[in-house]
Amino acid sequence: MSTAKSRKRITVPQLQARKGGEPIVSLTAYSAPVARILDPYIDVFIVGDSVGMVLYGLPSTLGVTLDMMIGHGAAVVRGSERACVVVDMPFGSYQESAAQAFRNAARVMVETGCDAVKLEGGVEMAPTIAFLVERGIPVMGHVGLMPQSVHRMGGYRVQGKGRSAAQRLLTDARAVAEAGAFSMVVEGVVDSVAREITSTVPVPTIGIGASVACDGQVLVTEDMAGLFAEFTPKFVRRYADLGTALGEAAAAYARDVRARRFPGPEHIFGAGGKEPA
Ligand code: KIV
Repeated sequence: MSTAKSRKRITVPQLQARKGGEPIVSLTAYSAPVARILDPYIDVFIVGDSVGMVLYGLPSTLGVTLDMMIGHGAAVVRGSERACVVVDMPFGSYQESAAQAFRNAARVMVETGCDAVKLEGGVEMAPTIAFLVERGIPVMGHVGLMPQSVHRMGGYRVQGKGRSAAQRLLTDARAVAEAGAFSMVVEGVVDSVAREITSTVPVPTIGIGASVACDGQVLVTEDMAGLFAEFTPKFVRRYADLGTALGEAAAAYARDVRARRFPGPEHIFGAGGKEPA
């Protein structure tokens, strides 16, 4: 009997074992072609609900639906073969009850083929995380700045300022780890607090606008590549300016079309311009 194709993807236990070791490299991805380009360099793709702001032009992540996440998650799984793929649970799909979270997380796992789900929250979400993990769904936590709570936070603000805020964050991170999360995103957190979280919890922390001391880093790909000009957080380092390159390509194309230099069918199908039989 033939066995299943040998697994090439980085697994959840392999990522978990990177605590305190080789830093975890993570980027967001929302589509198959972008996942294909990034895959050789990345340990974990996060199919973030930031897709709502970055690709759909929404004002926040709150309007993102489970179906949107499933469509983008499945595309990233199809476009990659090496990186572990984690799909965000969108706002409203898991906060009501552990049963609701399981039902929707199971859909995400089954319909995308991803490796794990991610959800935002600290102490209050710990029982839900435990419920999912006990039933076979690996969970990545997300503490600190939680974009789905933008209205409660009164905007996108750095978290952990002051001792009591720092203490709350530490308690959140501990609760998420104790509930069984295999890793957690630490977003928008004061450097010293992100360090303290990282040295306290036994699972890898993946920082975004947090601290170099985290066990890994994640960026929104479009920010990293200069493709999303609407809002780029201060901590983002741009590694390319693809936005300018794309604009220049569009301008060159427009010039060709207007000058009737646009390639005709002979360039596509060869001399004679006929589609091969
Ligand atoms: O939605 C998102 O892009 C995220 C990142 C912080 C990974 O949650």
